[in-house]
Amino acid sequence: MIRVHNLHIQYKQGNQVVPAVRGVSFDINPGDYMAFIGPSGSGKSTLISALAGLIRPASGEIHAEKHKIHSASRSELSRIRARYFSIVFQFSEMLSRFTVRENLMLSWMAVHGSRRLDDFRERTEYLASRLDIFPLLDSFPGQLSGGQLQKTAIARALIRDLPVILADEPSGNLDPESLKKVKLLFAEEHEKGKAIFLVTHDMQFALDAKTIFELRDGKISQLVK
Ligand SMILES: Nc1ncnc2c1ncn2[C@@H]1O[C@H](COP(=O)(O)OP(=O)(O)OP(=O)(O)O)[C@@H](O)[C@H]1O
Ligand SMILES: [Mg+2]
Repeated sequence: MIRVHNLHIQYKQGNQVVPAVRGVSFDINPGDYMAFIGPSGSGKSTLISALAGLIRPASGEIHAEKHKIHSASRSELSRIRARYFSIVFQFSEMLSRFTVRENLMLSWMAVHGSRRLDDFRERTEYLASRLDIFPLLDSFPGQLSGGQLQKTAIARALIRDLPVILADEPSGNLDPESLKKVKLLFAEEHEKGKAIFLVTHDMQFALDAKTIFELRDGKISQLVK
């Protein structure tokens, strides 16, 4: 479904070029559950940003079926995102002027428009019960703790109900009980046919995946599982 071929990504800092991803290839197919581990700075978030079409690779290709993510225009990219990806960012993207429920609604509408609002309500119920965030739905993001914010950000991503979940360190701020809930939710979404691309420093979470890749200095250095 998603094919990444010989991907190279660089950042420009002044007149210096910082290589962040150096020749990475892999596929994401329906039913995959893959985890990317690796030290800080190894290129994991960069890889997610490129998959999501938020940064353009220096060379190489990323295809989502027939779509070319590596060279698509901005408007094509937002259509591609709305068709394939639910994205949990490493740093919360919740909009501070809106309540959690309104954030979920905006995220839903970016994919489905104002259609199927009954499905939106049903999916909100489902995610809120799995993540135990019912009491938070009418709060504003600024009123939440780090762990609460992380759980609502996961709900905001997963509400989209799209074929591929890209999750960047979704458990960094979670207590053990919440971590267990997120792991279960991901397993359930995987069970329902979603492909999962998980970036994590938490080996226990990574072990839920069917395959584990290690990224080092922008290269896939090892297939751990
Ligand atoms: N906006 C940026 N401008 C310049 N360099 C960047 C930028 N973002 C990341 N980098 C560099 O690219 C490399 C990869 O960074 P990236 O954020 O992908 O790492 P990571 O594996 O996600 O790390 P972490 O586990 O800490 O989140 C690092 O050397 C980092 O300094
Ligand atoms: Mg990162």
